[in-house]
Amino acid sequence: MSRKWISFPLREGDCSRQAHCDFPQDTYEREMGREGFFGPTAHLHHKHPPTGWIDWQGPLRPHAFNFNEIASERDCPLLAPLCLHNADMKLRLWRSHGAMRHLVRNADGDDLLFVHEGAGDFYCDFGHLEYRDGDYLLIPRGTAWRIETREPTLMLLIESSGGAYQLPDKGLLGPQAIFDPAVLEHPRLDAAFKAQQDESTWQIRIKRRNQLTTVTYPYNPLDVVGWHGDNTVVRLNWRDIRPLMSHRYHLPPSAHTTFVANGFVVCTFTPRPVETDPGALKVPFYHNNDDYDEVLFYHRGNFFSRDNIEAGMVTLHPCGFPHGPHPKALKKSLEAPATFVDEVAVMIDTRHALEVGEAAAAVDVPEYVNSWRAPGKA
Ligand SMILES: [Fe+2]
Repeated sequence: MSRKWISFPLREGDCSRQAHCDFPQDTYEREMGREGFFGPTAHLHHKHPPTGWIDWQGPLRPHAFNFNEIASERDCPLLAPLCLHNADMKLRLWRSHGAMRHLVRNADGDDLLFVHEGAGDFYCDFGHLEYRDGDYLLIPRGTAWRIETREPTLMLLIESSGGAYQLPDKGLLGPQAIFDPAVLEHPRLDAAFKAQQDESTWQIRIKRRNQLTTVTYPYNPLDVVGWHGDNTVVRLNWRDIRPLMSHRYHLPPSAHTTFVANGFVVCTFTPRPVETDPGALKVPFYHNNDDYDEVLFYHRGNFFSRDNIEAGMVTLHPCGFPHGPHPKALKKSLEAPATFVDEVAVMIDTRHALEVGEAAAAVDVPEYVNSWRAPGKA
């Protein structure tokens, strides 16, 4: 087991004995954290909410994007509109219906699909898998694939450009924590897969260096009769995640890490009980995640720390300023805390700054920067 020496955090002024618990009277705790909640931290106790700004000028700002308003219907996922991106990660949104009549292959990186709506069949080099809402499909770069929808489908396409997705080290929790890898499903060479093998003309559209190339075959190239190995597509549904929680301590979002890639992580927030200890914080703490830009996609449920956010929306909190619970959510957590959180959300935290693509910029909610104002204040 990995281990470390005891370290002794510094103390100054009136501060709580432990993070996220039993704050000094009428104060607001803010965490300044390095390395995405894994590195050094300081917890500061403020007299006012750290999100209490009354004016904001300049290019840096919190964003909320309504992805429901993006025209993302395409017959090819490689043409899906680019929403947020940097050198490590490309987030696209893709809506489709019917059956793809061609294959695609991403040679720029591994793709992680998150199915927000819909259901259908996924065919690839390794066989056939069904998919439904709430599924992650992890596709190693170079895999040829297509889908046939049974219900109109809306999904996130999260490209890890040039790097593979891996699982986080579960450390002292043991390898079965959060989800047992035994729940990961892989494509099968089943009857549906064999039935789609034909001698018709098929095209594979290949994306390399963000340019498309089309290769034509006089047969369906998904013609495998057998395979072995450990490099394949895997499927995970959020319903199989058994999230960590502590009844006495509000866990940082890093406790909900699902996949780790080069330069970013993907976390999944799933339904879980709220802390019961009387002194424990019951909503996310105010924080600046000073080394990461944070993207949150709201999939379903009641987003307990957010006012005026609905399913299908995305928030982007870049480095450089604190964020935390919205006023109504904070007030409720202090006066009449919920006992259970039924939200499902996907978080993408990137080590390097994100660019806002045209598709997202067009659905940016400009008043979001003012959404932390206390109720009743203009
Ligand atoms: Fe955050």
